[in-house]
Amino acid sequence: MTVDLSTRYLGLELRSPLVASPSPLTRDPDSAARLVEAGAAALVLPSLFEEEILHEELELDRSLEAGSDQFAEALDYFPAITSYAGTGDQYLDRLRRIKARVAVPVIASLNAGTPGGWVRYARLMQDAGADALELNLYHVAADPSMTAIDMEARDLEVIGAVRAAIEIPLAVKLSPYYSAFAGFARRVVDAGADGLVLFNRFYQPDLDLDSLDVVARLELSRPWDLRLPMRWIAILRPQLPPGVSLAATSGVHGGADAIKALLVGADVTMMTSALLRHGPAHIRTVEAEILAWLEEREYESVAQLRGSANQAMVEDPSAYERANYMETLHSWASPPAATSTARS
Ligand SMILES: Cc1cc2nc3c(=O)[nH]c(=O)nc-3n(C[C@H](O)[C@H](O)[C@H](O)COP(=O)(O)O)c2cc1C
Repeated sequence: MTVDLSTRYLGLELRSPLVASPSPLTRDPDSAARLVEAGAAALVLPSLFEEEILHEELELDRSLEAGSDQFAEALDYFPAITSYAGTGDQYLDRLRRIKARVAVPVIASLNAGTPGGWVRYARLMQDAGADALELNLYHVAADPSMTAIDMEARDLEVIGAVRAAIEIPLAVKLSPYYSAFAGFARRVVDAGADGLVLFNRFYQPDLDLDSLDVVARLELSRPWDLRLPMRWIAILRPQLPPGVSLAATSGVHGGADAIKALLVGADVTMMTSALLRHGPAHIRTVEAEILAWLEEREYESVAQLRGSANQAMVEDPSAYERANYMETLHSWASPPAATSTARS
């Protein structure tokens, strides 16, 4: 029996649910081609950042002697890249080269936090051949004068502006740090998102105790990180219209992780850390693991499996989550060593 692995994501027909999420591997045309050879059903390019576009424009302004020092302090925080000149053009060029190289859908990515003129890049990405766009909303709500309502309104404005700029499908990659996530997810869809990518991983900085410097530490995910997207995809799947796509990102390392994400209702499962750790060929292994699991249980397709463990039967997801929480805490059994130490 041949198991049908195909899936639909953002209206695109994919040969399997395994998508390579943004990383240095999807930046370079050679490694992008290797990912596709190993079975990646779609690629998401690394993000072009709002700041890179603004910085590029500012440098251009300066070179025309019409610039201002308005952003001088903000620019000091930027990574030590000697010049942003041409960053946008280079991005579009890479997108075209990758598109010409692979036969799977290529999704471009924009990372932004505020509305602005950078939105025109969404259109340029579409014109350069992107099959869809992923908008990554990344910000830390550190301004005490901004309320949650203000922050959400700004995000929805950004989504609306990008939606208005393009005709290709739009996915929005979100962080889990919204105070009322289910309501916000629905409004993201109402603002024009065709799909949600859950969740953005925040890279928390560390301190170096010798230099007292803040150090950026990029740590790859672990399968445990899948629990958060899994919970929210299970909750959101029955709440959102069936045509809205859901992608799981964070913690998909092997076939078992991908199957769990599909069971709760993900349309695709995305991978970065596992591919950086094991190389592009790892996609083949994950696909074989999914196939073996499905065949053993006599599933005919991924579609048959998808969503069979979501919360559609749960009347009150909040009460269900509280009950689970209590049960989890009560399930703790002290290890024997801890018990005997406590007695002695
Ligand atoms: C080195 C590296 C670069 C990344 N670059 C981007 C990026 O440009 N845009 C983006 O949306 N996510 C980026 N990510 C996040 C990944 O796409 C992914 O969402 C995250 O790592 C969680 O998935 P994982 O558990 O499979 O790693 C990056 C991750 C890593 C490790």
